[in-house]
Amino acid sequence: MKELKILAVVIFFTLVTYWLVEPYAHGVMHKQVDSKQFAYSDLDEATKGVMSKKGDATRGKDLVVNGGCTGCHSITVADIPATMDAVTAASSYGVNPPDLSNSGVVYDAKFLAALIKNPAQALKVEHKFTPESGKMHPMVPFYGMGGDIDQEVADMIAYFQSIAVSQDELTPEMAYENACARCHSMKYLNWTELGPKPSFKTEIESLTYDLKVLEYQDSLKAYMGKLPPDLSMQALARGETRARNFIEDPQSYLEGTAMPRVGVNAQSAEKIITYMFDSADPKREQRDTIGTYVIYFSILLAILAILWKKEVWRDLK
Ligand code: HEC
Ligand code: HEC
Repeated sequence: MKELKILAVVIFFTLVTYWLVEPYAHGVMHKQVDSKQFAYSDLDEATKGVMSKKGDATRGKDLVVNGGCTGCHSITVADIPATMDAVTAASSYGVNPPDLSNSGVVYDAKFLAALIKNPAQALKVEHKFTPESGKMHPMVPFYGMGGDIDQEVADMIAYFQSIAVSQDELTPEMAYENACARCHSMKYLNWTELGPKPSFKTEIESLTYDLKVLEYQDSLKAYMGKLPPDLSMQALARGETRARNFIEDPQSYLEGTAMPRVGVNAQSAEKIITYMFDSADPKREQRDTIGTYVIYFSILLAILAILWKKEVWRDLK
């Protein structure tokens, strides 16, 4: 019986540590910011006019093409190529403007409306682009094409939603690529800021590619003030809450940070977090199940060991 008591005591303290002490310590060490469920309600006022309109996708396409978006962004699904390669774009804008094919499904509609009219406000980087600084955000605001600007913006959003894949078809990788990949690398998945590094036949080609990445990183550093960190281990090392807070609103989490608010909707955010965990540990799910089996097995083994010990001692008495 003594052994069973000891076992019970050990199990008790293990559970206390696991359920009470660890979460408490975690809560003290990591700041908690309440998630607003990706509602972006600070943008309600600025987007009221747009959100009350019903958009027309056909007119939206004209506006997107003639209103300037495609001067900086490619839209691959509509056969609209980029006007320059990523490295050259970054030397002009600081970063390569993302392809807009899936922007209608990745980003929150209200956020898109605010972004089109006032990028610095939507991205929460107005503090970096004050009139005194003399700097303008590299994405120029859309000032309208002569009609009702709110209707025009609603039309553009309808167009983006009409060409995007459905939320079901949007993979974690696609969401990540759209919203994060232009600034962050993912070493474990072989992603550079220019995309997944292709395999080259010769060392020279491989090094030439690396040089392009370095050149791109230089522009990005100048734009952001620092090189955005590699994301392979971020979610695993610093936790899911921090990752979610950072995706939803970097400023509320780390005041003055150079990372803009990305404006993805809640579903895309979950996909991006999944992708960040998978990158750190592609075998995670498989290992989680194995872990459970190992625990059951250990418990079974402990019980057998106790029974066996009793058996041996009885014979010796
Ligand atoms: C002068 C070039 C330029 C024009 C014109 C432009 N953009 Fe952008 N856009 C950019 C740049 C640069 C970024 C990346 C900014 C950053 O990451 O800090 C960007 C980012 C974006 C993003 C991603 C925002 C996010 O939250 O990550 C979307 C969506 C977008 N633009 C849509 C549009 C639409 C729609 C139009 C037309 C109304 C447009 N852009 C016009 C340069 C431009
Ligand atoms: C326009 C560039 C840009 C984009 C787009 C961007 N980031 Fe960042 N990110 C940064 C910069 C710059 C930092 C460094 C911030 C700092 O240290 O102040 C950063 C930091 C981070 C961090 C580290 C925060 C920490 O714990 O210190 C995480 C996590 C992160 N980004 C996740 C993401 C995810 C996920 C996306 C896509 C949804 C994304 N970022 C999109 C520029 C960007």
